[in-house]
Amino acid sequence: MFFHAAPLSILILILLLLLSLAAAQPTTNPHNFSSFSISQSPWRPTQNLILLSPNSLFAAGFHPLPNNSNLFIFSVWYFNISTDNVVWSANRLHPVNRSAALVITATGQLRLNDPSGRNLWPSNNVSANSNSTQLILRDDGDLIYGTWESFQFPTNTFLPNHTFNGTTIVSNNRKYSFVNSANLTFGTETYWTSGNPFQNFQIDGQIIINNQIPVIPSDFNSTRLRKLVVDDDGNLKIFSFNPNWLRWDVVWQAHVELCHILDTCGPNSVCMSSGSYNSTYCVCAPGFSPDPRGGARQGCHRKLNVSSKAKFLQLDFVNFRGGVKQISLQTPNISVCQADCLKNSSCVGYTFSFDGSAQCVLQLDILSNGLWSPGMKAAAFVKVDNSETDRSNFTGMMYKLQTTCPVRITIRPPPVNKDNTTRNILIISTIFVAELITGAVFFWAFLKRFVKYRDMARTLGLESLPAGGPKRFNYAELKTATNDFSTCIGRGGFGEVFKGELPDKRVVAVKCLKNVAGGDRDFWAEVTIIARMHHLNLLRLWGFCAEKGQRILVYEHIPNGSLDKFLFVKHSPSDSEKDERETEEQSSPLDWSIRYRIAIGVARAIAYLHEECLEWVLHRDIKPENILLDNDFCPKLSDFGLSKLRKNEDTTVSMSRIRGTPGYVAPELVKLGSNSITTKADVYSFGMVLLEIISGTRNFEIKRSTVESADWYFPGWAFEKAFVEEKMKEILDGRIREEYESGGHVSIVNRMVQTAMWCVQNQPEKRPSMGKVVKMLEGKLEIPPPEKPSIYFLSE
Ligand SMILES: *[C@@H]1O[C@H](CO)[C@@H](O)[C@H](O)[C@H]1NC(C)=O
Ligand SMILES: *[C@@H]1O[C@H](CO)[C@@H](O)[C@H](O)[C@H]1NC(C)=O
Ligand SMILES: *[C@@H]1O[C@H](CO)[C@@H](O)[C@H](O)[C@H]1NC(C)=O
Ligand SMILES: *[C@@H]1O[C@H](CO)[C@@H](O)[C@H](O)[C@H]1NC(C)=O
Ligand SMILES: *[C@@H]1O[C@H](CO)[C@@H](O)[C@H](O)[C@H]1NC(C)=O
Ligand SMILES: *[C@@H]1O[C@H](CO)[C@@H](O)[C@H](O)[C@H]1NC(C)=O
Ligand SMILES: *[C@@H]1O[C@H](CO)[C@@H](O)[C@H](O)[C@H]1NC(C)=O
Ligand SMILES: *[C@@H]1O[C@H](CO)[C@@H](O)[C@H](O)[C@H]1NC(C)=O
Ligand SMILES: *[C@@H]1O[C@H](CO)[C@@H](O)[C@H](O)[C@H]1NC(C)=O
Ligand SMILES: *[C@@H]1O[C@H](CO)[C@@H](O)[C@H](O)[C@H]1NC(C)=O
Ligand SMILES: *[C@@H]1O[C@H](CO)[C@@H](O)[C@H](O)[C@H]1NC(C)=O
Ligand SMILES: *[C@@H]1O[C@H](CO)[C@@H](O)[C@H](O)[C@H]1NC(C)=O
Repeated sequence: MFFHAAPLSILILILLLLLSLAAAQPTTNPHNFSSFSISQSPWRPTQNLILLSPNSLFAAGFHPLPNNSNLFIFSVWYFNISTDNVVWSANRLHPVNRSAALVITATGQLRLNDPSGRNLWPSNNVSANSNSTQLILRDDGDLIYGTWESFQFPTNTFLPNHTFNGTTIVSNNRKYSFVNSANLTFGTETYWTSGNPFQNFQIDGQIIINNQIPVIPSDFNSTRLRKLVVDDDGNLKIFSFNPNWLRWDVVWQAHVELCHILDTCGPNSVCMSSGSYNSTYCVCAPGFSPDPRGGARQGCHRKLNVSSKAKFLQLDFVNFRGGVKQISLQTPNISVCQADCLKNSSCVGYTFSFDGSAQCVLQLDILSNGLWSPGMKAAAFVKVDNSETDRSNFTGMMYKLQTTCPVRITIRPPPVNKDNTTRNILIISTIFVAELITGAVFFWAFLKRFVKYRDMARTLGLESLPAGGPKRFNYAELKTATNDFSTCIGRGGFGEVFKGELPDKRVVAVKCLKNVAGGDRDFWAEVTIIARMHHLNLLRLWGFCAEKGQRILVYEHIPNGSLDKFLFVKHSPSDSEKDERETEEQSSPLDWSIRYRIAIGVARAIAYLHEECLEWVLHRDIKPENILLDNDFCPKLSDFGLSKLRKNEDTTVSMSRIRGTPGYVAPELVKLGSNSITTKADVYSFGMVLLEIISGTRNFEIKRSTVESADWYFPGWAFEKAFVEEKMKEILDGRIREEYESGGHVSIVNRMVQTAMWCVQNQPEKRPSMGKVVKMLEGKLEIPPPEKPSIYFLSE
């Protein structure tokens, strides 16, 4: 039996093998040709033919659907890539079966005939004037027949060497379009614009735009295979093929905050960013439950119909962008807005802007395109039945009020507004004190409940990019704006800063950089990256100028100046008259709650740079001079990203040239032989600044009499005082020392001191990450007892 069975099964095996080989043969090794002419017509899917570009990079032919090998789309694809390789197709909406054919008629017309004889080629009449015309595939993937070229009829992809010529591409799911090579649209609504239309997709990866900074992908100038695609998620992306991992990497995308893309979530839901740059999720508005078919992404339905008795639930930082389903009103206040919504039976809610515009927008029939963003200066109010028990999960406005910026308070009240300001200070203080009185328990409960939102609140202030990125100024414009660079308002390591005013009356700070390495393109690339970093606590970059060898950055102007001006008392008798006046002006010291807000704001900005930017950015020069204070003492970190501009100089860094400012530079950078800089160096500098915020004194100036001693080290001294001698008060700023206990600020000050101690640890590994620092300051993380910071290199 054995002897009989074995040969038989072997025979069957061999047969099967032959059969599978026969089946596999055509797909693995198709016949190829370099042109298709009338003599080869018709071309059928069954022939297994492909048209190859001369460089074998692209192929064209009948491409089977991934889920159905009996249906075909006539396509162009990257020949030697197997994933997501299709870059153009003739009939993506109408796949054809094996009976279809690509033909060149006797009159020279090119047609894709489906079995019924219908022409599915993208333009109805593609005719050549001679019957010797051939269909060819160029090296850049352009399919050409006579004067017709596929580049004029792109589908969802543009390829390098493509001249956009104002054409439109549409995502494969037909939802999103990149119209006229300029506007990303959903239906009739534009949700992103490049400003001027894209012109040319260059081989090095750049996209040229008239009179604007080009789009520069992060793998710029490498020899990668690329494509620009309107993806099914609605974002416009440049993909670059990674030959090592055999996958497409996203090297640029139009929207960084994906929730700004319309229709990411269905009706009556709110889009949230999950914290990673490429994913979102949707949650229902309170009073609504998810669609049973596809969850909240498909939309949400009302749980209870609204009877005659309605109430509103407040959703902080949420906005709905309904387009035609909205009525925009100018109302004096929020109650009028609410009353208008109550009167209108189709009004299902309203949004109200708190940015001073008092804009009231009524939402009709549905709440559409809901979006939560920590930078949103608006809240939504959803109409629900009075008996609805759902509570809003979107809270946090109060929290934001306490620790970050939109609070309007001023230490030096201008005489006119005096009453208002005093009232504001009262309100703020009351809120603040109330929080402290209700105590840690409340605070912890509060924090725990909103952990989810607060994690994301680190991106506070994140806004969508202005169209086309930062503006490119020409030198003459800036010369006029700054009145020939006449008002110098600062001088730093990177160059001088001048005050100016743009024609649109915006006051700007114009920073003329010195010693910037690299060509125009490098500079543009870096500036684009800097401009992409948006955070409430980062100084906004509005534009730049790269002309005649000039390297100029144009920032928003912060009139109050930098933190050092408010923090440190000038004692030098040699101060000029002008300085004395300034000293007089700074009469009121910053109080503890403002200091705390400044600390948290700066920490958040650095954490954002370290952990949330697409590009990993080290600041490298954190010091009070680089922390600017807004009208309401909202801190704005400046000079970020600039260290990258000096890249070239950096590679030849000599031991004597330590980047940064003495007193703030991490010890590992001062030590000989160290060449690796990490985020922990910024943490050290931040810790030093935090100690100065607490003590109101320069870390190298305190104890002027003993500072000569080489062993004296401010953090070590502060540690001894605070944690060994338990005389916390002695390290606090003398001017507000007494308010420490009486004002009930013990817990926030202790938190700041403990956090600072961890930040200035000698060993970088011992310092917390910046994200952790934020949590420590916020009181969300238990802070372990700090170790004494010591600095041993000094004695080495
Ligand atoms: C194309 O066909 C020619 C001859 O049939 C063959 O030598 C060549 O290897 C083919 N090229 C590819 C990329 O398959
Ligand atoms: C595909 O072919 C092109 C040109 O021959 C080459 O540059 C590229 O590296 C190839 N890619 C892969 C993934 O083999
Ligand atoms: C195949 O996939 C397409 C989308 O790529 C889809 O529209 C179609 O319904 C699918 N067909 C089958 C049989 O699954
Ligand atoms: C292709 O589809 C047509 C109808 O569109 C049908 O008549 C024909 O039989 C199909 N051919 C094959 C091979 O399935
Ligand atoms: C096509 O070419 C043939 C010769 O091969 C010629 O006789 C005929 O006139 C041509 N037709 C057209 C429309 O040019
Ligand atoms: C297509 O164009 C050719 C010449 O350009 C013309 O002779 C022919 O009539 C046109 N066919 C149709 C269907 O429009
Ligand atoms: C790039 O485009 C130009 C103009 O359209 C064309 O002449 C050139 O051959 C193209 N380059 C490649 C590699 O196909
Ligand atoms: C640009 O578009 C116009 C009309 O849309 C067309 O006539 C022209 O040939 C196109 N140019 C290129 C280079 O594709
Ligand atoms: C893009 O959209 C804006 C506003 O929606 C419009 O003003 C502009 O003309 C559009 N640009 C193009 C090239 O269509
Ligand atoms: C692009 O890379 C090449 C070498 O790979 C270099 O010569 C050229 O200067 C680079 N161009 C730019 C603008 O960086
Ligand atoms: C997001 O990116 C990460 C890696 O960068 C990847 O693993 C993940 O699949 C992506 N998620 C989506 C939804 O594309
Ligand atoms: C609010 O959050 C709670 C707990 O996280 C959850 O059970 C509830 O479904 C959420 N409600 C809404 C409307 O998202």
